[in-house]
Amino acid sequence: MRDPDSELNQLKEQHLLRALDQGINRPLDTAEIVRDRFLDFSSNDYLGLADHSKLKTAAIQATENFGVGSRASRLLRGGSPIHSELEKYTAQFLGTEASLYFANGYATALGTLTAILTKGDTVILDKKCHACLIDGARLSGATIRVFPHNNLKKLETLLISAHAKSSSESRILIITESVFSMDGDSAPLREIIDLKKKFKALLLVDEAHALGILGKNGRGLCHCENAPGSVDLRMATFGKAAGSAGGVVAASSEWIDLITNKARSFIYSTAPPHAQAAAALAGLHIITGPEGDHLRQSLSENIRLLCEKLSIKTPPAAIVPLILGEETNALEASEHLRKSGCIVPALRYPTVARGKARLRVSLSAAHTTEQIAELAANLSLLLNTGKFTLASGD
Ligand SMILES: Cc1ncc(COP(=O)(O)O)c(C=O)c1O
Repeated sequence: MRDPDSELNQLKEQHLLRALDQGINRPLDTAEIVRDRFLDFSSNDYLGLADHSKLKTAAIQATENFGVGSRASRLLRGGSPIHSELEKYTAQFLGTEASLYFANGYATALGTLTAILTKGDTVILDKKCHACLIDGARLSGATIRVFPHNNLKKLETLLISAHAKSSSESRILIITESVFSMDGDSAPLREIIDLKKKFKALLLVDEAHALGILGKNGRGLCHCENAPGSVDLRMATFGKAAGSAGGVVAASSEWIDLITNKARSFIYSTAPPHAQAAAALAGLHIITGPEGDHLRQSLSENIRLLCEKLSIKTPPAAIVPLILGEETNALEASEHLRKSGCIVPALRYPTVARGKARLRVSLSAAHTTEQIAELAANLSLLLNTGKFTLASGD
C-alpha cells in the first residue's frame, strides 16, 4: 500500500502536488463574488451553456417530474423517459443507429472498451489519448500499442504488425480523440480512416472537445470530415460544450446492444440524475439550432482574437495551450495570472509529458471581447518579462 506521507512529500518536492481550489470551494454565498472577480479560462463550458436558462429550467422540470435521484441502474428500470429521449436525439444528431448514456465520459470509455474488446484483440491508441481511453484499454485485457501523437507512419507500422498477428476471431481497434484535450490540435481523421479501411480495423473517436463546436451544427470532427459512416464508435461527454454532464457512446444498434449488456460501468451504476440528462438534452437542442450557430461564431471570434493578439497559430477548437516547459514555470505563470484576475490552470505531469508543463487556456462563447483582450494583455506582459518562453508540443 502507498505511504501517504512519503508519496505526498515526493509530489510536493517535484512540484506535482495537486489540491482543490479554495476559491471555488468557498461557502455558497460567496460563489457569485468569486465568479465575478476572476475571469475564468479554465472551464470546458465552451459555449457558455452551463449557466443557460433553458438548461436550468430543463433540470428543474425534470427534478419536479421525476425526483432528484434516479433510484436504480437503468437495467433495473432506473432513470426516466428523458434518458431514452437523450439517447435517441444523440444518435439522430450524430447519424448513428443508437447511443447509450453513461454517468460521465470516463465511465463511458471504461464501459465501452471493456465491453467491445477481449483478450487477443489489439488496441492502438494515439499517445496523447485521454486517461479514460488508456484505462479502458488496459482494463479490457487487449494488447495495447501506442503511436506517437498523430504519427500516421507509426500507426501504419503498428497496424501491419497487428494485422500479421491477428486471427479470424481477433480485432484491431484504433482510438483517437478528434480534438486533443491538452494540445488542442485535431487528429488527421481522413488518413486514419484510410488506414483503418486498409487493415480492416475498427475506429473509435472521442469527440469530447469537438462536440458542439466542430462540424455542421456542432456534430463534431467526424462530420467535418464527412466521415461519420466510417467511424465505428463515437464517444463524447455532455460535461463540456453541452453544459451539463454525462457521457455517451454512439454506434450501430448491434454495438450499443452489446455495450448495454457488457459495460460494467453502465450496468452496475445508478442511472445519472434526471436533471443531468434533461440539461444535456436541452444543451444538445441549443447546439443543433440557430443559437448554437451563433455561439460557435462568437467562440471562433474569441479564439481568433486571442491568437491574433498573441501572434500564435489558431487552434481548430477552443483549447489554446501555452507550453512553458518546467512544472515550476507553469505554476508560477498561472499564479501570476491569477493575481491579475485571470484563472488559467497550469497542467503538469502526469496529465502532460514531463518538461511539457503548460498553461491551458480554454475559451468560451461566454467570454466578451474585453475579457479576451484583458487575458491577452496579461499573457503578453507575462511573456514579455523574458522569464517564460513558449515551447513546441513535441
Ligand atoms: C478527451 C476526453 N475524453 C473523456 C473525458 C471524460 O469526460 P467526463 O469529464 O465526462 O468524465 C474527458 C474529460 O476531461 C476528455 O477530455
